[in-house]
Amino acid sequence: MLHAISLLTHTTRIKKFRQAIERVVTRNSFCIDVGTGSGILAILAAKKGARKVTAIDINAESLEYAKKSAERNNVADRIDFVNSHFDDFIPAEKADVVMCEMLSSMLLIEQQIPASKAIIKNMLKDDGYLLPSNVSIFITPVESFFHWNRFIVEDIVFPRVPQTTSKEAVRDLSDLQKLAEFNLQNGQEEMVIKKTQEFEIDEEGVLHGIVGMFEANLVPEITLRMEDGWRELFLPFREAIEVKSGDILQVDISFTPGKFDSLKLFSRIV
Ligand SMILES: C[S@@+](CC[C@H](N)C(=O)[O-])C[C@H]1O[C@@H](n2cnc3c(N)ncnc32)[C@H](O)[C@@H]1O
Repeated sequence: MLHAISLLTHTTRIKKFRQAIERVVTRNSFCIDVGTGSGILAILAAKKGARKVTAIDINAESLEYAKKSAERNNVADRIDFVNSHFDDFIPAEKADVVMCEMLSSMLLIEQQIPASKAIIKNMLKDDGYLLPSNVSIFITPVESFFHWNRFIVEDIVFPRVPQTTSKEAVRDLSDLQKLAEFNLQNGQEEMVIKKTQEFEIDEEGVLHGIVGMFEANLVPEITLRMEDGWRELFLPFREAIEVKSGDILQVDISFTPGKFDSLKLFSRIV
């Protein structure tokens, strides 16, 4: 619950959601907020004048907090709060607008894709709006002695695993490339990643892994970016690789978004 409330400090993220909600919510709208947390997106929709809002969350404590927030802002009479997993929630009527913010750096850990599938199947009208409506993931190979060495502590060696990262902790050794793009409103599409991506190395260095990030479109021209409240994700290779400018790196990467354990990452210089 405290995590969901801490997200209230992401002011540009919330401002972009407010602008998108103002564009698509009308006085006739029925809206659903999936993973309401503090209640912020449900309250924004109600303040825009939505006829009714249903806010769901798996965390009962968050819902209690969201309910109090709605009362303080005089919109509690138009928001229903439901304690449910998104997979189990079937609304009595389908919604004109569904808001769902379960984004993470590469969609690897959080549940944006599985939640969007449940939304399209059970909650959203065919001509309704899903916010965000599509997401692109980008990767770049990096050097990061910081992340590589953090797994050796007092001469004890730990298995390397993905870590969120600041920009300062990594050095890009090639260009950023798009890894995948998902249209979240297309409930039929199988949303998995299985790609081999090729990079030309720009600078001499030691390759330790890749860094991944996303962009998510709420509505045309309103795009959530990492600087709106997320950290990039460092994924370590098995071995560090010394490289020079002009080397060609191939990266095989596959995962099912939302299933952290499904990640497979292999790299080689060709
Ligand atoms: C990243 S927070 C977003 C909170 C809020 N919507 C916002 O924009 O600040 C994601 C929320 O989704 C909820 N959540 C996570 N898994 C869920 C699930 N399976 N079903 C319903 N809610 C879930 C969490 O409890 C959390 O409150």
